[in-house]
Amino acid sequence: MLRTDDGPTIKLEDYRPTDFVLHSVAMTVRLFEGRAEIDTQLELERREGVAGDARLVLDGDELTLSGLALNGTAVPAETYTASPERLEIASLPATGRFTLDIATRIVPEENTKLMGLYRSNGVWCTQCEAEGFRRITYFLDRPDVLAPYRVRIEADRATAPILLSNGNPAEHGDLPDGRHFAVWDDPFNKPSYLFALVAGDLDSIHEEFETASGKPVTLGIYTEKGRVGQAGYAMDALKRSMWWDERRFGREYDLDVFNIVAIPDFNMGAMENKGLNVFNHKYVLLDPDTATDADYAGVETVIAHEYFHNWTGNRITCRDWFQLCLKEGLTVYRDQEFSADERSAAVQRINSVRRLKAHQFPEDQGPLQHPVRPREYREINNFYTATVYDKGAELVRMIATILGRDGFRKGMDLYFERHDGDAATIEDFIACFEDASGADLSQFALWYSQAGTPSLAVSESWDEASGTLTVGLKQALELGASGTDGDPFHIPVRFGLVGSNGQDKVVTVRHGAEVTGDVIHLTGEEETVIFENVGERPYLSVLRDFSAPVTLHHEQSLSDRLALARLDPNLFNRWRILNDLVAEALVAASRDPQRTAEPPLPAQIVEAILGSAGDDTIEAAYRAQALALPSEQEIARMLAENVDPDAIHAAVDAARRLIGERGRALFERIRAEARPAAEFSPDADSAGRRALANVALGYLAAASGDPAPAEAQYRAARNMTDRLAALAVLVHRFPGTGAATAALADFYARSEDDGLVVDKWFALQATVPDPAALDIVAGLLNHPKFTLRNPNRVRALVGTFAGANQRAFHRADGAGYRWVAERIVELDKLNPQVAARIATTFRSWRSFEAERRRAAQEALEKLSAIPGLSNDTRDIVGRSLR
Ligand code: BES
Ligand code: ZN
Repeated sequence: MLRTDDGPTIKLEDYRPTDFVLHSVAMTVRLFEGRAEIDTQLELERREGVAGDARLVLDGDELTLSGLALNGTAVPAETYTASPERLEIASLPATGRFTLDIATRIVPEENTKLMGLYRSNGVWCTQCEAEGFRRITYFLDRPDVLAPYRVRIEADRATAPILLSNGNPAEHGDLPDGRHFAVWDDPFNKPSYLFALVAGDLDSIHEEFETASGKPVTLGIYTEKGRVGQAGYAMDALKRSMWWDERRFGREYDLDVFNIVAIPDFNMGAMENKGLNVFNHKYVLLDPDTATDADYAGVETVIAHEYFHNWTGNRITCRDWFQLCLKEGLTVYRDQEFSADERSAAVQRINSVRRLKAHQFPEDQGPLQHPVRPREYREINNFYTATVYDKGAELVRMIATILGRDGFRKGMDLYFERHDGDAATIEDFIACFEDASGADLSQFALWYSQAGTPSLAVSESWDEASGTLTVGLKQALELGASGTDGDPFHIPVRFGLVGSNGQDKVVTVRHGAEVTGDVIHLTGEEETVIFENVGERPYLSVLRDFSAPVTLHHEQSLSDRLALARLDPNLFNRWRILNDLVAEALVAASRDPQRTAEPPLPAQIVEAILGSAGDDTIEAAYRAQALALPSEQEIARMLAENVDPDAIHAAVDAARRLIGERGRALFERIRAEARPAAEFSPDADSAGRRALANVALGYLAAASGDPAPAEAQYRAARNMTDRLAALAVLVHRFPGTGAATAALADFYARSEDDGLVVDKWFALQATVPDPAALDIVAGLLNHPKFTLRNPNRVRALVGTFAGANQRAFHRADGAGYRWVAERIVELDKLNPQVAARIATTFRSWRSFEAERRRAAQEALEKLSAIPGLSNDTRDIVGRSLR
């Protein structure tokens, strides 16, 4: 069927409440092989002031109606119309409550979109955010329609001994024919996107948690049969999250049970359904032999994030999907703060900023740009973006920077108190901080509506005679499409004036922009701050902790920058300043690939990197970050036009060899000192030491061209982190050699029955930094373990190739683009959401040199002409071509 109906455009300004108010939901879900029967009873009432003849319009998606009754009596055919997408009912009571009984029939086994009710490895499970509930029953499927739910599940006891839904367990018992039932009661009002149901034969672990006020909660984690032994760390992370949210935000858990189910086929990372989180099993299952330190950190983050949603998202939800950052940006901020407290704050901040620059900056600087609160969308699934999540988290962080830690906490307390049980807006959120602190955040609010990354130019001038430092700050924002300038933001600039002893000086501020404590509030386009009584000339450290999501241009001498890279008491800035120096040098080298005589990095910068890396007084994880070069994607973004990925790769690789040569002695020492402990521990300190030793291994291999140390490490490794790091060196630096091939084969052989390890095997080969990697991935499509039906597997091979292999995806002959576009077309038929996500990897196509640009455009245009393309993929492709 040729589809011409690209869904309509939904606009923020069109928001209005529903005509009918929902009071309660009661569902019975009967599960059978090959079908599910869903009976839903809604208790509804016409909203006051709504016309008596207004019809009730319910959302559906690929549904069949098999029964409809009003107050227990069948609704006559002439008073309703039902299509797969919509159920419209006329002649409903003008006043008072009434009940509607809606029966639908669906086939979970045929649901390849993994939205709504589907089967994953035999287990029935649901995913309803954002609009999946309408694939289960006809409903007012929008986040401002809240109700308590009572859910009865019936299934065959042998196939599905475990029956779970939201809330607290109420009843269970036997039924004839080997079937049984369970009833779950969720007393908290919730929107339909938080509905969940799981049924299947699962293993589980349980633990008790007592909340701060003494309430006992039973925690459960459910996994596939035989894998529950890998859930212990997730359980530990859950208890630490619950404890932290009580201490840091005063938030306690509210139900008697909290359950997590780990599922192999899942579109996203995890989902915060009330009392029943459903997780991609990648974010639950771990052991030292199959998971890396990064995987452990990822599990901790995702467990915390979904748990924290119980207050930021569930108890207080979003009025509409335009307010998505109200729950997602805020909850990312909360999980980042949790990780900072659990691990190292500086290292966490470096990780978050790297992520922001890798994903959000390119999005904000390309055709998929949109405000943190979008004004319109065609497909809401495409707005779970780095901008909503990561920039959204940065906006919350800026509020905390502007108000200070106590002021921020008071605002949050007011938000929880004032809006508990509400579907709220960004305006509601901001008003709480204004009311709690007296601050005026009206200019700040512009960050939510104005897209784009502002630039911040900082200049300084020193007057030796009077000991006065004058700092100039200037912001600019070029608005993508219109080309005009935006309105100035309120930019909080955290700063310090560093003395030659490495300590911040205490100085007097004469006048200029408002300064509170260590924060300059830049509110005009251009402002000046004058510092007096400075004494000796200081080193100016600005934008500490990356206090605002801007691109910084600080006119500062190389010697000042190198001094700060050594001395700045703000560890984040020490890293940032060095990282900027390296990135600028690599940008210059990539721009001018013929310039072979000069080294890719000036000697002073190499020495500075090695100085940081060799500083034993600093934690190992930080030293590993100091050694990590900017990604090739980051260099491409900074180049902004005429990008040649081969030139970038050559520059980065030359820098890697140079650092490896100059630092050989240090790297040997680091490796020698990193003797692994007898027993593996995933704690941050041990992980940091492994990270540092593995970076050292990479540099040594780059410098020597000798695979032997990596081979030896591969063979000796007693945990996945060290094994995978060694394998990556072999496969990426020595592709096709006997050493690489043998190690890859060994890795596959020992991983064969663990899908998560097989994913690592696919992803590693997809990221060989060579245009010829396309042949490898193309070949792997035919591997017996490859399937388009498991999102993790698709992401491991196709997503990783397009998103992380710059040289091969952006091949000059366009073959990378064509191959990925073909995969998108195939996948789009099964799972549009995942296909659309992969299509976003084209987003920076215009910044490449002419030949690649033409090839990318051709691939995108060909994609957009495919008849029957999903709304999801069509939206991304269409906007990318704009
Ligand atoms: N609510 C989302 C999951 C989601 C996203 C559902 C998009 C439907 C559409 C969940 O809270 C979330 O944000 N998960 C993230 C991980 C998190 C740590 C940022 C994810 O799934 O990637
Ligand atoms: Zn979330």
